[in-house]
Amino acid sequence: MNAESGFPIQPVYGPSDVPADAGTDQPGEYPYTRGVYPTMYTKRPWTMRQYAGFGTAAESNARYHQLLAAGTMGLSVAFDLPTQMGYDSDDPIAHGEVGKVGVAIDSIDDMRRLFDGIPLDQVSTSMTINAPGSVLLLLYQLVAEEHGVPGTALSGTIQNDILKEYIARGTYIFPPKPSLRLVADTFAYCRAEIPKWNTISISGYHMAEAGATPAQEIAFTLANGIEYVRAAIAAGLAVDDFGPRLSFFFVARTTLLEEIAKFRAARRMWARIMRDDFGAKDPKSMMLRFHTQTAGVQLTAQQPEVNLIRVAIQALGAVAGGTQSLHTNAYDEAIALPTEKSARLALRTQQVLAYESGLTGTVDPFAGSYAVEALTDAVEREATALIDRVFEYGSAVDAIEQGFQKGEIETSAYRIANEIDSGERVVVGVNRFAAESEEKYEPLRVDPAIEAAQVARLAKLRAERDEPAVQAALADLAKGAAGSANVLPLMKAALRLRATVGEVCHTLRGVWGVYRPVERF
Ligand code: 3HC
Repeated sequence: MNAESGFPIQPVYGPSDVPADAGTDQPGEYPYTRGVYPTMYTKRPWTMRQYAGFGTAAESNARYHQLLAAGTMGLSVAFDLPTQMGYDSDDPIAHGEVGKVGVAIDSIDDMRRLFDGIPLDQVSTSMTINAPGSVLLLLYQLVAEEHGVPGTALSGTIQNDILKEYIARGTYIFPPKPSLRLVADTFAYCRAEIPKWNTISISGYHMAEAGATPAQEIAFTLANGIEYVRAAIAAGLAVDDFGPRLSFFFVARTTLLEEIAKFRAARRMWARIMRDDFGAKDPKSMMLRFHTQTAGVQLTAQQPEVNLIRVAIQALGAVAGGTQSLHTNAYDEAIALPTEKSARLALRTQQVLAYESGLTGTVDPFAGSYAVEALTDAVEREATALIDRVFEYGSAVDAIEQGFQKGEIETSAYRIANEIDSGERVVVGVNRFAAESEEKYEPLRVDPAIEAAQVARLAKLRAERDEPAVQAALADLAKGAAGSANVLPLMKAALRLRATVGEVCHTLRGVWGVYRPVERF
């Protein structure tokens, strides 16, 4: 049998498969194989952070209040596609997509509604937003300031990982060079203004959903991480000024042991990269802290209740692998947006793990297991070799521009699809143990009237605001973007005057242009 990463899995592992000192290093100490904190979940369980958001800001706000009441510990905002691409709800290109895969946020007015009644000094908020990540962060900061909460008291994360958008997810706007400048500007701005903010969530999740193996997932993610560190250093920042606030995001698949090994390998690889390649001195710069989402791609539309079991196994892998924050998918996510009940069950899965399983009592319980230690070494070896292949192109961006990562991932995806088709790879309820007939399932649907309501709100906003002041602020932003000033303070000034997300992004498009991908196949 082969591991998902391609290397052979042995039926039995023993002392000769691992170095004599395997598993003897300490959690909370370099190279952090066993976890970033010495006490891990014995002190505090991971953050239960369910990704949610749909329709209008008011509807999503209601869902956040429900989630907090049900015991989630952090928020995770899903934005609709127009917002993710930097278009307003009334832009013709947005038609049909408003409020569909997440909440529509056009301006500070929507952001106010989204966080109404939520104590922003107590809750940490993750926002899955990339190309316009800095714009949404500034709106969040402006709303927090209205609540009387200063930037220094805010904690959370913006995804802000543009490189993986070119590889796998697709919501890019600008070409790589200005995109990396925006990322470096955000690192510098946050250090000065919002120091507890995780400025980026360098993500392998979407590559895995597109078909990447575990070794590809961590290799391409860490290679992107290296690129961000290089860009920030080139922009004049010191590695320990921004390193502690880099965070990561991975998938958890059902292949439990290899996933635990993957998380352990990723931690020690990043620690070595930061210390040895970039000369980091602050231990926090070396700690790979990560969020995990269970593998959506492994959920099935057939017999959807089976997904509850898959998600429980995947979540167990994330926790045994030492994740800091976790989203468990709802069992109906392969079909539609989760219903209130399925979203609650997903959260309950985490709560059973945290409060009934005893897993929070012992740090890194798999350390010293011959199998897991050997798999950790094997994943590390595979991933290190792949990182070397990326940098044979010069940089991660050069490899992206040549279509290397995308091509490798597509090849893996094709192999997996063939294995499922031939029955070699079993998917319970799909190519084995299929049901004769399926029960009817009633999915949650987003009301199409949301788009009209959002468009009307925008018309009102544009009529009410101080238009000459908005235009002047956008002109200042264009000037700043053409030069080398940090663009975030300029964006903040425009957003405060109720410039929209689309207007700010259009202004930057006008100066920086848009990215056009290469197709390798
Ligand atoms: N000992 C000491 N301190 C501890 C501790 C322990 N055992 N456990 C926790 N702590 C402390 C931490 O040091 C931290 O304090 P600090 O901020 O002062 O350093 C605090 O408690 C909070 O703990 P964590 O940092 O461990 O946990 P958070 O939840 O705050 O942060 C994260 C986790 C991974 C660093 C952060 O980046 C995060 O929350 N990420 C979430 C990303 C996310 O939700 N993404 C959703 C993506 S969905 C998507 O992409 C959509 C689609 O396309 C799939």
